[in-house]
Amino acid sequence: MANRHPVDLAELVEATPIGQQLWLRGAGRSLYPLLRSGDSVRVLRCAQEKLARGDVALIRVGRKLVAHVVISKEPLVTASLLGGKDPTGVPLGRITAVRRGPWVLPLPRLTRPTLFLGQRLLSGLWSQPRARAWVRRLRDFTVSGWSRPVRKRWLGRLEVRLLREEDLDTLLVFAGERLLVPSGFLRQQLLLRWAREDGSRGAAAGAFDKRGQMCGFVYLDDYREEGLALEGLWVRSLVVAPRARRMGVAYQLIRCLVDEARRQGAECIFADIDDDNVASLRTFRRAGFRASSPELTRRVNSEWSASGGTKPLVVLERAVV
Ligand SMILES: CC(C)(COP(=O)(O)OP(=O)(O)OC[C@H]1O[C@@H](n2cnc3c(N)ncnc32)[C@H](O)[C@@H]1OP(=O)(O)O)[C@@H](O)C(=O)NCCC(=O)NCCS
Repeated sequence: MANRHPVDLAELVEATPIGQQLWLRGAGRSLYPLLRSGDSVRVLRCAQEKLARGDVALIRVGRKLVAHVVISKEPLVTASLLGGKDPTGVPLGRITAVRRGPWVLPLPRLTRPTLFLGQRLLSGLWSQPRARAWVRRLRDFTVSGWSRPVRKRWLGRLEVRLLREEDLDTLLVFAGERLLVPSGFLRQQLLLRWAREDGSRGAAAGAFDKRGQMCGFVYLDDYREEGLALEGLWVRSLVVAPRARRMGVAYQLIRCLVDEARRQGAECIFADIDDDNVASLRTFRRAGFRASSPELTRRVNSEWSASGGTKPLVVLERAVV
């Protein structure tokens, strides 16, 4: 369930003259762990000939932007840090720095050999099912039962509720750290749709810890708001911060949207999920979602791949009446 908004960013980059730099957010987490959702990158617009092995190139694949390591110059081949080669895309520039919160990590040309060798080593390791299984086990271990009491004490009593206008700033902070959705879109939807009680459709829900910090978010809206020709209300951008995972937060967030969809008179709501996202699939199934028709699944996947998506999506739905 990724987001389509990066199309606007691609246009923005393409409109920037060669030789100029710009900061942007929305190149995904394809260079994870170097780049995470919410990080910004500084892009130097340049021609393809200026890219060399080990550079991090900004590439437009379909309507999506990705920041990947150049592993061959002629022909130009790029790849994520952990994954295989990309489908051919349009090179737009070179990433010269990554910003996470207040920290800026410069990526001068000196880092080329390290990035090239790092990519070769990590992608080789990551191609081994055993190595992937170990990393997953380690990640699940850190947010599993043993750490829950400590995390619960730290977070305090969690409040899960629909978002209101006054939550905008908190939402934007959370989005900056964890979401790929542009802040302009969130601001507009929250103020003009989700937080209004005048019959507008859609809603957003958040989970808050005892300090009032957001640790989970999800929204429900027409996919048409993002330019996709799909009917109905869709659950989008479900994310729970690692510190609040495996505590039922995602389940409560979805329940909150189901109740609101019912109040708004919807009969059914939908969700699309990467087919390998076990945690998310389990969460939605637990919240009563079941597989949609093969016809809808096919339509969603073709809309999605036309906009640059590469992973197959599972489409689920839940009656709310
Ligand atoms: C998917 C995600 C939202 C789940 O959030 P969460 O608050 O930890 O989930 P919950 O605690 O409400 O758990 C709901 C169900 O999912 C299961 N689940 C949650 N995380 C899981 C994991 N890593 N592996 C297996 N099952 C998992 C829970 O066990 C529970 O099922 P159960 O009641 O049958 O035991 C969270 O892991 C996340 O933010 N992931 C990254 C972003 C993402 O993938 N979003 C979904 C996009 S579609």
